[in-house]
Amino acid sequence: MLFSAFILASCTNNPKPASEEDRFIDELLGKMTLAEKVGQLNQYTSRWEMTGPAPTENKGAQDLLQELKSGMVGSMLNVNGAEATRKAQQTVVENTRLGIPLIFGYDVIHGYKTMFPIPLAEAASWNPELARLSSQIAAKEAAASGINWTFAPMVDVGRDARWGRVMEGAGEDPFLGSEFAKARVQGFQGEDLADELTIAACAKHFAGYAFSDAGRDYNSVEIGNETLHNIVLPPFKAAAEEGVATFMNGFNTINGLPVTASSYLQRDLLKGEWGFDGFVVSDWNSIGEIEIHGAAANLKECADRAIKAGSDMDMEARAYIKHLEELVKEGQVDETLITEAVRRILRIKYRLGLFDDPYKYCNAENEKKLIYTNENRAAARKVARESMVLLKNNKHILPLATNAKSIALIGPLANDKDSPLGNWRAKAESQSAVSLLEGMQAAIGQTTRLNYAEGCKLSIGPRNFTDRMIFNESDRSGFTKAVAAARKSEVVVLAIGEDCYQSGEGRSMTDIRLKGLQQELFDAIYQVNKNIVVVLMNGRPLAIPEIAEKSAAILEAWHAGSEAGHAIADVLFGKYNPSGKLPVTFPRNVGQCPIFYNYKNTGRPTGMTDAWVLYSCYNDAPNSPQFPFGYGLSYSTFNYDNLVLDQSSIEKGDKLKVKVSVTNKGELDGEEVVQLYIRDIAATYARPVKELKGFEKVMIKAGETKEVEFTLTEKELGYYFPCGKYVVEPGEFQVFVGSNSVDVLQEQFTIK
Ligand code: BGC
Repeated sequence: MLFSAFILASCTNNPKPASEEDRFIDELLGKMTLAEKVGQLNQYTSRWEMTGPAPTENKGAQDLLQELKSGMVGSMLNVNGAEATRKAQQTVVENTRLGIPLIFGYDVIHGYKTMFPIPLAEAASWNPELARLSSQIAAKEAAASGINWTFAPMVDVGRDARWGRVMEGAGEDPFLGSEFAKARVQGFQGEDLADELTIAACAKHFAGYAFSDAGRDYNSVEIGNETLHNIVLPPFKAAAEEGVATFMNGFNTINGLPVTASSYLQRDLLKGEWGFDGFVVSDWNSIGEIEIHGAAANLKECADRAIKAGSDMDMEARAYIKHLEELVKEGQVDETLITEAVRRILRIKYRLGLFDDPYKYCNAENEKKLIYTNENRAAARKVARESMVLLKNNKHILPLATNAKSIALIGPLANDKDSPLGNWRAKAESQSAVSLLEGMQAAIGQTTRLNYAEGCKLSIGPRNFTDRMIFNESDRSGFTKAVAAARKSEVVVLAIGEDCYQSGEGRSMTDIRLKGLQQELFDAIYQVNKNIVVVLMNGRPLAIPEIAEKSAAILEAWHAGSEAGHAIADVLFGKYNPSGKLPVTFPRNVGQCPIFYNYKNTGRPTGMTDAWVLYSCYNDAPNSPQFPFGYGLSYSTFNYDNLVLDQSSIEKGDKLKVKVSVTNKGELDGEEVVQLYIRDIAATYARPVKELKGFEKVMIKAGETKEVEFTLTEKELGYYFPCGKYVVEPGEFQVFVGSNSVDVLQEQFTIK
């Protein structure tokens, strides 16, 4: 079966007067043969070390070299280094008829060589400015190394802790996710794509990938259109509005349709309604996977469906290079579809300045000067400490005194120089992070004894991007030393959580408790010392009910990047007053997943009566999470009062001002993330019990009161009908302001 050709009128019409860019591209397109056009749509990964000898033995590599020389490749991924990218670029520019430069893509997700905290952690800072900074530095380092395009930001709203890729996004909320999406696009792309220190960004995975059934990566997605429009799409729309240069589609289907073959998403919405003028790259072989999903009979049909749906560049499926010419010749695919896709790719190459100078990003001088500098690492430390979330702090056990007599540092992650780098670590050197042990050694005074013991290993198998983790389930030989260290110390810092390769792509889990012997290690230490400060290093929410109950303090440090150890020590010893808030809900147990704060009320919410069983609840655990969305403590205490609205009733289109006073009752200056939520009480389609619609991170001095003001407009007060139409409906609304999604003050207003 082949699918009938169709063309969207908007693909070819250009109502604006031709710009210099348009003229250049028109002229170039006019010179291109169909084969050359198809070549531009083709992206391959590097198959040999570009800086080594040209391939002679390796057949795949030889073929690739030949394809590069004959103009069959428009882009490469995973080639990096100024010299390597220059070589590949030279091969293409000097050998092909038109010399159209390659665009080099790479997964620069949370840093290039200087690693910043994983994106989920950065979102926990609730300070988009930090994500802008880290993306800017990542772009600078990548650009200095020949890369001109990152496959980031991942803007998938992730509600399911079982899904390993929650680490790559900004958490469960579309509003917070949109703010971080915008900041990252700004950071990567800067003011001008042609600047040799900025790179093109890519909003991925369009769309719905994070909703894979049961949290299993690559699984099918079944979601309704109301969820699609209100939860999944907003961060993508925000990225498009911010001018993101490219989009990546995804591996998943939505309600049976592979998104790579979705012309609704890619043509109608993205390129049509949203006016996106960059290009869409497929995910790795996602065009080929259309067949495996069962939505095409062969690779040729995959190519047919994908190009018609608006998937412009084929990453590694070889569907376009093998079949598009043939499909055009047979009259199945209109050549204008191909021309339009090429136009989009040439446009981004033009905006990057590659036609002026194809080698502008291959600057060996910059490469020496700009990567992994002290300045970049100082920024990584700043971002890392602001990303950490204090989840518990009984009796103010934290901050620790730098002159404490004795501190035990225990745990499989305490002296781990690799896990803090996280997954998707681009060119970070393995074992290059500052470990917590190093960080604490540097922070303590001379009189403090630091009693270190590993306790147990977390994993006992290969640690890399592709191999399955094997956890240590039986070797307790380090317990004795750990217990002895705990016994002779005033306080224990216990570093546990996840190995860096436990979260990330393909790292789905059915059990999100601590793996291996970590819980047992905690229990053994608890027998001899109750002052346990748990430092969690992880890439997803974990279910830690016993630790939440028994520990004295918990600091969620995530996989915090190159400077992790210093940054954690900054927080533990009070050099930095923690200010992070959870961007995801932490469940009590995996059975609650997916759990998120912006759920709908149901017709039978618990709490309506004393009755229990016939209401929407679990019979073996509470509905509530362990730690709610937006939660995080500080060494200061913040009091909220005087929540005031400037009107009790507004007309549609009016603005509503919301003010609140926040007082720092503590003894230390500190930052607080003031959060605003709304609830539309009676709408055509039931709305969530709370929706984040504003937040502000404010520094409040000890004893000081600050007034924080928010403005609500149509943009915050409406929602999408399942058909995709945005509406603001009249009626009663609640507004909540507080320090997390549960502890809030509440007011009410009406839209007439
Ligand atoms: C991932 C993408 C990534 C691509 C290229 C895929 O497996 O899903 O997010 O950008 O590989 O490395």
